[in-house]
Amino acid sequence: MSNTVEIFEMGPRDGLQNEKRQIPTSEKIALVDCLSKAGFKRIEVASFVSPKWVPQMADSAEVLGGITRAEGISYAALTPNMRGFAGAVAAKADEIAIFGSASEGFSKANINATIAESLERFAPVVAAAKEIDLPVRGYVSCVTDCPYDGPTPPEKVAEVAKHLFDAGCYEISLGDTIGQGTPESISAMLKAVLEVVPAGKLAGHYHDTAGRALANIEASLELGVRVFDAAVGGLGGCPYAPGAKGNVATEAVDARLKALGYETGLDTAVLAQAAEMARAMRSSKAQ
Ligand code: HMG
Ligand code: MG
Repeated sequence: MSNTVEIFEMGPRDGLQNEKRQIPTSEKIALVDCLSKAGFKRIEVASFVSPKWVPQMADSAEVLGGITRAEGISYAALTPNMRGFAGAVAAKADEIAIFGSASEGFSKANINATIAESLERFAPVVAAAKEIDLPVRGYVSCVTDCPYDGPTPPEKVAEVAKHLFDAGCYEISLGDTIGQGTPESISAMLKAVLEVVPAGKLAGHYHDTAGRALANIEASLELGVRVFDAAVGGLGGCPYAPGAKGNVATEAVDARLKALGYETGLDTAVLAQAAEMARAMRSSKAQ
């Protein structure tokens, strides 16, 4: 099994979307430009969602337009519907992501749709992306626990993951949105998903609310997952998931992976610099 693990950097999107202070576009661009020197292949930098729902991401087009794009890096954006798709294409995102949920409560709170409605809404987005050869990633949120509905049945995660994969998503990112998963519940969920989507097409997206994200990553490695989402400085959370604190910190994941003997291709010194920038951008520091 491969000794290489990829970290998909989430800081500029999942990291910053929950910050109360409206962060100047120039600061976001500076963070992305720093991250572009760290060795990532993919960085999520933007989100074309309603600015009424997530005001922090309202300048996504300006961020994508202002960054210095490095060769070989895919700069990604979230697109919940066709309007978001049009925005992402106009801003020249290199790939897009649709985001669904394995729990009804979170689906309603986050995108104002039932799971079934959301999957219907994503279909034209995937079709339009296919026409212009734009890669589409698929998220499934609340893969072990939901802030509204409680524990999530693993079969429900597998059902939504299979739907997104069959629809054409090149990778399915499994979100422990509120960071309540344990190595046991993450393993049980993954075993169900692995029945329908191969390990090489999965990513773990674990928030670190309860301090278990690194243990959950180790449990996922054992089951063959080799891509993990993380945010420098442990930035982040989702405004529609009460209790969703930070994403697991990229620098912590990188250090743990290297200690376990995996290669990440990331430059520790640049990561430390980006993590410092990220921490300085947090509301608490800014006030
Ligand atoms: P809605 O209210 O049902 O939609 O929201 P609507 O079609 O009725 O539109 C409402 C308003 O939004 C209208 O404006 C639309 O024009 C506008 P108004 O007429 O009121 O002035 N609108 C848009 N504006 C800009 N870009 C768009 C767009 N679409 C509609 N694309 C909607 C439905 C999906 C739009 C809304 O619920 C929404 O934007 N939700 C996004 C929530 C969000 O971004 N959450 C965080 C990301 S998910 C996450 O963090 C989890 C993840 O990290 C994985 C994990 O951790 O589990 C990925
Ligand atoms: Mg997230």
